[in-house]
Amino acid sequence: MKNIVVFGAGGHAKAVIDAIEREGRYRIFGLLDSYKAAGSEIYGYRVLGNEHYIADHRENIHGGIVAIGDNWTRASIVARIAYLYPGFPFVTAVHPGAWIARGAELGQGTVVMAGAIVNSDTVIGEHCVLYPKASVDHDSRIGNYVTLAPGATTGGNVTVGEYSVLSLGANVIHSVSVGAHTVIGAGATVLSDIGGYAVAYGTPAVIVRSRTAGERYL
Ligand SMILES: CC(C)(COP(=O)(O)OP(=O)(O)OC[C@H]1O[C@@H](n2cnc3c(N)ncnc32)[C@H](O)[C@@H]1OP(=O)(O)O)[C@@H](O)C(=O)NCCC(=O)NCCS
Repeated sequence: MKNIVVFGAGGHAKAVIDAIEREGRYRIFGLLDSYKAAGSEIYGYRVLGNEHYIADHRENIHGGIVAIGDNWTRASIVARIAYLYPGFPFVTAVHPGAWIARGAELGQGTVVMAGAIVNSDTVIGEHCVLYPKASVDHDSRIGNYVTLAPGATTGGNVTVGEYSVLSLGANVIHSVSVGAHTVIGAGATVLSDIGGYAVAYGTPAVIVRSRTAGERYL
């Protein structure tokens, strides 16, 4: 089994570790985190250091996955690793309790947690997170660095632009498009297209304000 490292050692990393362990495709070599002290542990896996640790141990490390919940922060860490180690392989983690239908595709670095569904011919971008019970129906297109929070659901033929968030229990009906860098609030029902760089919520969802790339939403 190939060794991987998990970047991040917080609460989100615990869920990613659980998915990796249960999937059983990779062995977790250790955790890398700039803010946690080397030697601290999660579920018996040690924090080995920060991303520079890889430089001296490249032969032992096949690839890794960034386990940071915030879309923008996750992207900045991916960019840093790709800069330091060109071609570094990012792996996916798919909990065996998730369902990936025929024809569906997952980009590198994407995490799919227990109970999530990616339905037929849907394409999920790179470094996305589908939390428990998130569901994307058939023929949808989800951009890179997107989060679907627990229970967020889309109908078929939905498009979500990069860095956007469908918050807890949000619903997006079929054939609707959500732009990039947009946050759809918890419990929203999106009935028509919502543009980029917006915060929208309610039933039906309406844009309540604009937002900038990287603005915090958690
Ligand atoms: C949309 C969201 C990001 C906050 O947006 P915001 O503009 O900063 O909202 P605020 O917290 O300032 O609240 C402003 C008003 O909107 C209301 N509001 C906020 N989110 C709402 C939502 N999802 N649905 C309905 N009303 C909402 C607040 O109650 C508040 O109302 P008030 O002015 O009458 O007191 C946040 O409310 C949300 O839905 N977060 C989801 C978090 C989540 O799912 N996390 C899990 C990720 S894995």
